[in-house]
Amino acid sequence: MAKLIIANWKMNPETLFRAIQLAKAEDFENVVIAAPFVFLKNISNTLKKAALAAQDVAWAVKGAYTGEISVGQLKQMNIQYVIIGHSERRYWFKETETVINRKLKIVLGAGLKAILCVGEDWSMRKKGLVAAENFIKKQLAADLKSISVFTNQSAAKIKNLLIAYEPIWAIGTGRHDNPRNAAVIAEFIKKFIHSKFKIQNLKVLYGGSVNSRNAGLFLEQKTIDGLLVGGASLKTAEFKKIIKLAGL
Ligand code: PGA
Repeated sequence: MAKLIIANWKMNPETLFRAIQLAKAEDFENVVIAAPFVFLKNISNTLKKAALAAQDVAWAVKGAYTGEISVGQLKQMNIQYVIIGHSERRYWFKETETVINRKLKIVLGAGLKAILCVGEDWSMRKKGLVAAENFIKKQLAADLKSISVFTNQSAAKIKNLLIAYEPIWAIGTGRHDNPRNAAVIAEFIKKFIHSKFKIQNLKVLYGGSVNSRNAGLFLEQKTIDGLLVGGASLKTAEFKKIIKLAGL
């Protein structure tokens, strides 16, 4: 199965011009661009084939929530994916598992694809893979609490769930995970989600200091279905190389 490459631009680039230039450089088969909200409409108008992601969404459907953006508004702009629970949101904006759980329910309930980010910090990982797995299991259980009930047990909707395994210590640090260890954790995530929700073929991506030198090592792991790329997705040549490595 083709691997999925998601560019997480975060709060970059600074201008719409640069955003369009970056997005134009890509071939959109199995590539998703998670651009800042304010650029999404323009990119979707300019590049009809681009699959786009929002980097976050409100936990309410509509109403008096100053500054927030709803899932319905994203749907109107043809956004297909939403990143939920990125560690930067958990850390800087104090997003709790309760909030993440609400967001997931809203996104999956609306039929959009949710990219749920999970991952441990270094104090956990240095205790070993099993400790990291136990941490991730707890995170997944809380983030996905009663999700099947909310989505009306609709397998089709839960199928829109993707997981990005992003060890916190690897994000933006230049210190990527060992690909084999990441593959072990990806497999663990698949087994855990299968035992809970009976989802087959769950896509698990790896993210954290991916670049063109290490992307191939992650992509050749059978249990890793794609990459969530931050910093390297802002460098056109670098991102193109990563896409090429994915054989897209
Ligand atoms: P990075 O970011 O590739 O710059 O480490 C990945 C992410 O935060 O999704």
